[in-house]
Amino acid sequence: MQNGKNILVIGGAGFIGSHTTLALKEAGFNVVIYDNFSTGHRDACFGHEVVTGELADQAKLTQVLKTHDIDCVVHFAALIEAGQSVIDPFAFYENNVAATLFLLQAMRTADVAKIVFSSTAAVYGNQDMDLLSEGLPNEPVNPYGHSKLMVETMLQTAAAPYGLTSIALRYFNASGADPEGRTGERHDPETHLIPLLIQAALGQRDHFKIFGTDYDTPDGTCIRDYIHVSDLAQGHVAAVNRALGQSQPGFEGMNLGTGTGHSVREVVDTVKRVSGSDFRVELCPRRAGDPAKLVADACRAKELLDWEATRSDLETIVKDAWRFFSGRSAG
Ligand code: UFG
Repeated sequence: MQNGKNILVIGGAGFIGSHTTLALKEAGFNVVIYDNFSTGHRDACFGHEVVTGELADQAKLTQVLKTHDIDCVVHFAALIEAGQSVIDPFAFYENNVAATLFLLQAMRTADVAKIVFSSTAAVYGNQDMDLLSEGLPNEPVNPYGHSKLMVETMLQTAAAPYGLTSIALRYFNASGADPEGRTGERHDPETHLIPLLIQAALGQRDHFKIFGTDYDTPDGTCIRDYIHVSDLAQGHVAAVNRALGQSQPGFEGMNLGTGTGHSVREVVDTVKRVSGSDFRVELCPRRAGDPAKLVADACRAKELLDWEATRSDLETIVKDAWRFFSGRSAG
């Protein structure tokens, strides 16, 4: 463990960023959060310090990196909705790619050479494989996945000339909430499966729509690998430790997933069971940009980070998310 090291968490007020901040602090790191609060929440900032700023503000980032003597950056700030990226791709290239280049330039200027980057399972696209391993060709089917892949390429090509050490964590479907209820998933508007189902169970929406029932999967609905956000947070702590421990520059990309997939219908049934609410479900056409199945081969992260999911069975994920949402709704 690298106790006492200074970590800049960009996008630390968001869903995965807030959980990762808690985990980094518990591991003994000093955490500075940098966020523009376009989607993040001030009450989800758990860092020792918070700086409000834009990812594209290279001068400000350079100053923050220098002033706080940052050892490693963890970069979450991005647009994340695959469906939206099909509708407005340039917004994704601007926010996720162009602005990240400013961050990387700021890191060069400030002589910060370690970064852990939020990548995604969306870099794989539609593959005819049971499990997605990192050696597969990258064939994103939406601009969101392309934008993350472009950043992976930038990181990879920066190793030799600039001495950058980077780890890209390809998340599968982040879900759940902090088991202690300190933070959880809050997007506005919400587009993600489990929060939408819970809103339907709480009566906050009239019904829930399943997007696509004619996929080539056992029950016709999409299959995803749901990973508890607390497991993801621990994966980041392990990746930061690995990056800090590397004496040579280089790039590594690895999945953070469980290796087990669940269909949309299975998730619907689990939320109904956990909540005790039999809300109405409407069967709808496919949503653009959705691959049929995304399930991780989780071996590389186990090997390189000594990390594996421990809280990601679907029932636990849904129970933790339900507790967070129903607590907020009662409060
Ligand atoms: N879904 C519905 N109805 C809804 C919302 C979602 O049926 O109202 C379905 C989707 O079609 C998909 C599944 O539920 O099949 C999961 O959808 P999400 O929107 O929750 O998540 P995505 O799989 O589209 O994407 C998420 C993140 C991405 C990340 C990806 C990795 O948003 O950032 O997981 O698998 F890249």
